Formats: sequence, C-alpha cells, structure tokens
Amino acid sequence: FNPPYAPYDPTDKSGFSYETVVKRWPIILTGIIDHLYSLNHELSTDTSTDAQDKVEEGKAVIGKISALKYHMGRDHPLEKIPEDGEPHVDVYNAGLDDLEKQGKNTWFTTPWLFAECYLYRLLRSYFSTTKHWKQFDPFYKQKLDTFKKSGDACYQLATTMAEFESEKDVLASDPDKLKVVFGEMVQMCLWGNATDLSLLTHLSHDDIQKLQSVGKDAHAARKDYLLRDDGDKAWKALKKGGQEGRVDFVLDNAGFELFTDFVFADFLLTYTPYVKKVVFHPKMIPWFVSDVTPPDFAATIPALLDPSFFPDPSSSLSSSTATPASPQLKENLKTMVTRWQSYINSGVFALSVPEDRKLGEKDEKADFWTGPWPYWEMKMKGAAVWERLRGSGLVVFKGDLNYRKLTGDIRWPAHTTFEEAIGPLVGSFPILSLRTSKADVVVGVDKEVAQRLDESGEKWRVNGKYALISFAS
Ligand code: F6P
Ligand code: MG
Repeated sequence: FNPPYAPYDPTDKSGFSYETVVKRWPIILTGIIDHLYSLNHELSTDTSTDAQDKVEEGKAVIGKISALKYHMGRDHPLEKIPEDGEPHVDVYNAGLDDLEKQGKNTWFTTPWLFAECYLYRLLRSYFSTTKHWKQFDPFYKQKLDTFKKSGDACYQLATTMAEFESEKDVLASDPDKLKVVFGEMVQMCLWGNATDLSLLTHLSHDDIQKLQSVGKDAHAARKDYLLRDDGDKAWKALKKGGQEGRVDFVLDNAGFELFTDFVFADFLLTYTPYVKKVVFHPKMIPWFVSDVTPPDFAATIPALLDPSFFPDPSSSLSSSTATPASPQLKENLKTMVTRWQSYINSGVFALSVPEDRKLGEKDEKADFWTGPWPYWEMKMKGAAVWERLRGSGLVVFKGDLNYRKLTGDIRWPAHTTFEEAIGPLVGSFPILSLRTSKADVVVGVDKEVAQRLDESGEKWRVNGKYALISFAS
C-alpha cells in the first residue's frame, strides 16, 4: 500500500514531531535518569554484592540514556539496537539501513512514528541486556502513582454501573435505551484516553483531573470537541456479532484508561446480549510511557480491591480536597471490581497472553504491537494477531498511537475518509478507534471544520482536547 502523501517527520518545525524531539523526549529521558538515580541512591546503603552490581548496572544505563539525549539534541544518526534476544532487533535495524540510504536516519529527519517506536525498543535494550534490571519498567511507578489520583472518577463510574444494575430489566427490554447507553459508554471509554503520561510533560495534574471528569454533563460539555462520532455504526456491527460474540481491546494506557476499558467491557458483557467474551491486548515491553504491559494488567484488579489503594483526601498522595469516599461508593467499586475478577477467573475477560508473561518474552500473539509498522501491514507482519482478530465481532483500538498506526501517521488531508486512510486493513474485522487527538494526523473530519480549526491557531490536532470516534467495517 503506497499512500499518496509522506509520513509526519520533524523536518516540519511547526509540527508536533519537531516539538517532540526538541522537548518531549528529552523530558521523558530525563525522568528515567532521575528515577534511576534515586533507586541507585536507595540501593547504595546495601553492601551486598548483588546490590552493588545492580548499582553499577544502573549507572551504566544512566550513561547510555544521557548519551542518547546528547545524540538526539545534536541530530546524530539513530544508533543500532543491540542483539538482546528480544523481538524486532532486525526489523528496526533494517529500517535504519533503509533510512540511511534515503538520508533520513538522524533524530531530526526520521519519520516520527518509526522513530518513536524505535526509541522505546532501544530503551528496552538498555535494560534487557542487564542482569538486575531485566524486568524493570522505568514507568511502572509513575503509572501506579497517577492511577492512585484517579479515585474520584473511578468511584463515580462504579456508581454509574451500580445504577445500571438497578435498571437491568429496563435495559434488557428497551433496545433504544441500550443503544443510548452504549453511546455514552463509548464516550466514557474514549475520554479515558485523555490521561496519557507521555503528555504529562505539558499537562498539569489539575488538567488531567479535569479531563477525567465523567458523567453525562461532562460528556455533554465535551460534545463540541468530538469531531466525529461513529458510535451508531459500531453498535450495528456489535449487534451482528462475530462468530464467538467476542470483542477485542487493543489497549493503550494503564491506570485510569484501563479502568475505563474494563468498565466498557463489563457493560458489553453484563448488559448487552451480544458479547460473550472480551480479549485485551497489551504491550510486551514498557511502551510510550503509560501503555499497559502484562504486569500492569495483572496488578490492576488486586490494586482496586485493596481498600487503601485510593488514599483518603487527607493523605499527601491524594488528588483532591473532597471528602473521603463514602462507604456506599467504596461498596460500589468493590462490587464492580469483584465482578471483573470473576470474569477473569472464568475466562470471559482474558489477556491475549498469559498474565504472568515476563517483559520482553517473545509472543507471537503480542509482539506485533511493539513493531514500527502501520496496521495496514498487519496481515503480513503480524499474521498471528491478524488471524486471531479475524474472528472478532468488534476490535476497539484505544488511543492516539493506535490511531497513528491505523492511518500510518501520514499527512492525509483531514477530510480523507477513515477507510481510505487505513487502506488494506479495511474488511479484515470491524474496527472502532477511540482517540483523543495528540498527534498531527487527523482524518474523517469535514473539510470546512478542519480548515476553520487550522486557521484558528489553536493546536487542535495535538492538545488532547479534541477526539474522534471512528468506525470501519
Ligand atoms: O502525541 C504525543 C504522544 O505521546 C505520541 O507520541 C503518541 O502517539 C501519543 O501521544 C501517545 O498517546 P496514547 O497513549 O493515546 O497512544
Ligand atoms: Mg499510550
């Protein structure tokens, strides 16, 4: 598939790709260095040989990341990924060779999508080649700490679900009402994507709290920011169902977003007659800061069942000045999450790989997601994943990166249809993409609307305020 336009890259100084190389990536890398420093500092009091070896390895990783920052800032060529026995070394390195031939293998010339995927795979190699940091996720703590600040929104959603329970009969007998609730659930799950830690480099925690506000009023207030809503089409597809009544979630971020994915999945399974099973697809290595890995997935339900997970407002970890969650709110959360646990136990909620999969272990059902490819190459480059998704009644692609990969991160005019932009992937399975916009590529938007927004001077494509619900059958 040869799209008629080029992919985004940082040679355009007005694009988000440029800002990313100049600002966002260095901040993310500095964050990892700081985290490693403090862990090393804690370890330094431990005189055992193992601890001291670990400190030395930690120092070496810090050195590599500092060098990487240096090369990035000076527009040097991207370094080769060392052979660490984990997936895609050859794929990325062959990509670098190709780019070199085109004179595009430096940090300010390489296509953004390739460079960003490569960056997280390269970082992985710095840890995978150590003895003591092999299973270390440099973003794990950040993911968990941010999730702890999402208590208000989580309690509110659990309460919404508890209200459904009392309306179960109405929902079962009134297809129109069920359809309306489905539309609301789609939006709830969509806005869950607004919390993305790789963007925390320019959003404050207050901003994030606002983006997490849930409920009808919050959704209504955001209607103007929803540039496309194919929710009805997705509902029709769901009603037709796949062979197994299965829905797949190609996950994006851990924490609050994963929570909203569970809520949506729970709604589909518990309150609609069309879904019998939900499969969640994680990333096998730390990815784009906040993406879900198997350890994140496995830790989520136990964390939510721990009554002290969301700190009371008096605690310094807490997000708000609100009153502590009432016993009723706590009960609602517990009931809902216990139901999720039972779905996991019975296999109707399932991760696509075993939950205890170690970071970096090869797995043909998941490795495709950490490659550099646009999804129109899925049939060729991720045959096992493509075959598996073929049987799905609906594949929900969460978030911005999935959207960039669906559309190839190509400079499509914004009025290009979603179907045209995702190319040969059309027809493989029903696709629902839920994305808050954090990168330049946008399709499926009216020509006049896009033009008006482009001329407004607002950074609407990348500021995370606008969103798209896109469907292709
Ligand atoms: O645009 C900023 C960015 O970090 C991109 O690098 C990436 O596409 C995206 O945000 C990640 O967001 P999400 O978690 O929604 O995929
Ligand atoms: Mg993400």
